[in-house]
Amino acid sequence: MNILLLPQPGNEAIARLVAATLGAQIGRVEQRKFPDEETYLRLDSDVNGKQVVVVCTLDRPDNKILPLLFLAATARELGAKRIGLVAPYLAYMRQDRRFNPGEAVTSRQFAKLVSESFDWLVTVDPHLHRYSSLSEIYSIPTKVVHAAPLISEWIRLNIPDPLIIGPDSESEQWVSAVASDAGAPYTVLQKLRRGDRDVEITIRNPHDLGGRTPVLVDDIISSGRTMIEATKLIAARTSGIPHCIAVHGIFADSSDALLAKAGARVITCNSIHHETNAIDIAPLLIHEIQDLAGNINCSGGR
Ligand code: R5P
Repeated sequence: MNILLLPQPGNEAIARLVAATLGAQIGRVEQRKFPDEETYLRLDSDVNGKQVVVVCTLDRPDNKILPLLFLAATARELGAKRIGLVAPYLAYMRQDRRFNPGEAVTSRQFAKLVSESFDWLVTVDPHLHRYSSLSEIYSIPTKVVHAAPLISEWIRLNIPDPLIIGPDSESEQWVSAVASDAGAPYTVLQKLRRGDRDVEITIRNPHDLGGRTPVLVDDIISSGRTMIEATKLIAARTSGIPHCIAVHGIFADSSDALLAKAGARVITCNSIHHETNAIDIAPLLIHEIQDLAGNINCSGGR
């Protein structure tokens, strides 16, 4: 299969891990800003007739999306056979309905933009809450891989007698899967979010925390308020050091430092590059890339 990976800036490490297993080449893209901050982009590899796979995790997406769309358009103009997007973290999934009159449902609008430029999408644990699958908003073929088995394995190897704890009801889908694979019990806390950075976490039955090592598991750490408040609650009620494991560590507002200050040991998957990365999700992507890049007739594609 003639696959050419094109990592966007910051995605070189994960692209190398994927390329090594796929036996794929990594292409070169020259990219910079003009003085007026418009994007200059030049494809320095031949894409003609190739299965092009753009690798771009989409945390802090607003500065990434325009260069990404330019890159896809350029590859198409220069004869790429198909263009896929591997976005280990998929942005704009949480504004999934009009919570207040007049609000943009950006999840749908973002999905439309991506679907118009790419032929397929692979991602890791997108925040599916009110949507049951990506196909509700993406019109291209999509594949979702789940980090839960890798997180369970990490817990099995590193934490004796864990109690897996979800910080809110939304996390139960990840927490129950992780706990079941790790052969550990789990419990879920309650969260009341009053604003972007205003979160209250409570526990219905403190006896649920038992005498085990507390391991908080969530899909995303963004402002960190959810994990920080959950860590404080648990630290006040148990003697173990709370571990905080997230699939996607965005760490807005320097929340990595705030979590450390609250006494948490933080572990993340490498869907977003960060010093807390301890769980490699690259192996999960291989089969899906092969499948989508190889299946040139799959429905929904161009
Ligand atoms: C909730 O919808 C998610 O699963 C996470 O709990 C949430 O995104 C974390 O956000 P923050 O770190 O800003 O509290």
